[in-house]
Amino acid sequence: MFLEAETFREVMGRLAGGVTVVTAVGGDGQPYGFTATAVCSVSLDPPLVLVCVTREAHTPGAIRAAGRYALNFLSSGDASRADRFAASRGRKFEGVEWAAAPGGSPLLSGILAWVECDVERDVEAGDHTIFIGRVTAADIESANEAPLVHFGGLYHTVEALDE
Ligand SMILES: Cc1cc2nc3c(=O)[nH]c(=O)nc-3n(C[C@H](O)[C@H](O)[C@H](O)COP(=O)(O)O)c2cc1C
Repeated sequence: MFLEAETFREVMGRLAGGVTVVTAVGGDGQPYGFTATAVCSVSLDPPLVLVCVTREAHTPGAIRAAGRYALNFLSSGDASRADRFAASRGRKFEGVEWAAAPGGSPLLSGILAWVECDVERDVEAGDHTIFIGRVTAADIESANEAPLVHFGGLYHTVEALDE
């Protein structure tokens, strides 16, 4: 069956995704990061996560150099930071407050939660690379804040259906 790329993109856009910024420190000692929704929890024991990264992105080079990365979970007020980190290259970290996770990966200020992991395996899949990471540290920064969600090409947030 032939599937138009645009149809596939639009259909997958109907799967709501929590917005993250994936960060790593590059071989040049500089922080790198990009906006990603193709992130998920893989295993509890051992704790594993994954992120799917387009081969055209620049951050994978930093992830490979560091051997680790962090997932920064954004809150509903963070759409402009999501757009900033979705730009290719540029001075994304200029004026952005961040601190180092235990393994050194950049953690942005004002996020909901974060996970840092060591890259256990990378798998080439079509035009993306899947980085599977073993979680080495994780924490919640703001338990009551609502998340930033991407759905149908727009940013949203969520509300609970039951008490
Ligand atoms: C809401 C949203 C979600 C995105 N999710 C992903 C993703 O899961 N994987 C990916 O490779 N790119 C994703 N992107 C695109 C990257 O953020 C974009 O390609 C960025 O330029 C990569 O930055 P870099 O080249 O500096 O690494 C997403 C963009 C937006 C706005």
